[in-house]
Amino acid sequence: MSALRITRPDDWHLHLRDGAALAAVVGFSAARFARAIVMPNLNPPVTSTPQARAYRERIRACLPAGARFEPLMTLYLTDSTTAAELEAAKASGLIHGIKLYPAGATTHAEAGVTDVRALDERFARMAELGLVLEVHGEVTDPAVDIFEREARFIDTVLGPLIERHPRLRVVFEHITTAAAVQFVRGAREGVAATVTPQHLLLNRNALFAGGIRPHYYCLPVLKAERERRALLEALAAGSPRFFLGTDSAPHARGDKERACGCAGVFSAHAALELYAEAFESIGALPRLEAFAAFHGADFYGLPRNRDAVTLVREPWSVPAQFPYGADTLVPLRAGESVAWRLVSE
Ligand code: NCD
Ligand code: ZN
Repeated sequence: MSALRITRPDDWHLHLRDGAALAAVVGFSAARFARAIVMPNLNPPVTSTPQARAYRERIRACLPAGARFEPLMTLYLTDSTTAAELEAAKASGLIHGIKLYPAGATTHAEAGVTDVRALDERFARMAELGLVLEVHGEVTDPAVDIFEREARFIDTVLGPLIERHPRLRVVFEHITTAAAVQFVRGAREGVAATVTPQHLLLNRNALFAGGIRPHYYCLPVLKAERERRALLEALAAGSPRFFLGTDSAPHARGDKERACGCAGVFSAHAALELYAEAFESIGALPRLEAFAAFHGADFYGLPRNRDAVTLVREPWSVPAQFPYGADTLVPLRAGESVAWRLVSE
């Protein structure tokens, strides 16, 4: 196959940042995706509908001329999120999900939830309102091995949460392990997961290839090859429970390349193209369209897009860096080639 025309996809997990950083990155997503679920982990976090509405306007103001891109907003769940806040979110029609970060789990997760069970009343309200809960699924106990935090989270937090709230719709974000695949496949109705390009294309060896590689560091951290294979096999099987969520998470070069570098991989510049590589690697290109354009929209109860995008099998070189406000941004595959190219229409 040398050209692939598919329904325009959506990105169901994206970090767009704010200010000059937002202006630097949003065009990459808008060129590929019709819509994106925009993560609320700004500093300070987006915890109310008025804040989300204002953030949405800032995103729209940064869009390149002529771009049609719809930011689907989310709220950041904290220990003090009220039922009234959830009701206002639903009533606004702008908020499509509530993001649960276990406190301290990742970048800008300091304001996250310290005790999931303590919020059971709020989860019950979300289920009644039909608000989707998006979950960063890792325990934060520093005694738990970093490669085991996702599996531990399933057993101790996510599994029980889903049982306690049988009607809550849950997206297990950026899954990275065979355990997560198995959990999502076997879970009750209303449970789905997003998968990133980096977890499909790279294993943890990438972090240490010839030296330490901060641009491959993200959370959840890259896993072993057998886990990567399990993700690919899940997507090759075509279950509607899995859909595209890049977790593209830009950080300035200086913030990545320091003694304690930030977590986050930037992939928006080539996101769809990288997924095409991953699907092609297992002979599953015919499954790409549903993963990228149907399953997520169906899960969120939104219409599928009507227009299309075209990819051609024509290698191109990714720049070594992009401008990022006063700084620069090192993208995934920097200075290397990507096998598929997006044709601009
Ligand atoms: C994300 C970020 O930088 O905002 N980082 C990451 O490694 N994925 C936060 C997150 O989604 O965990
Ligand atoms: Zn994320």
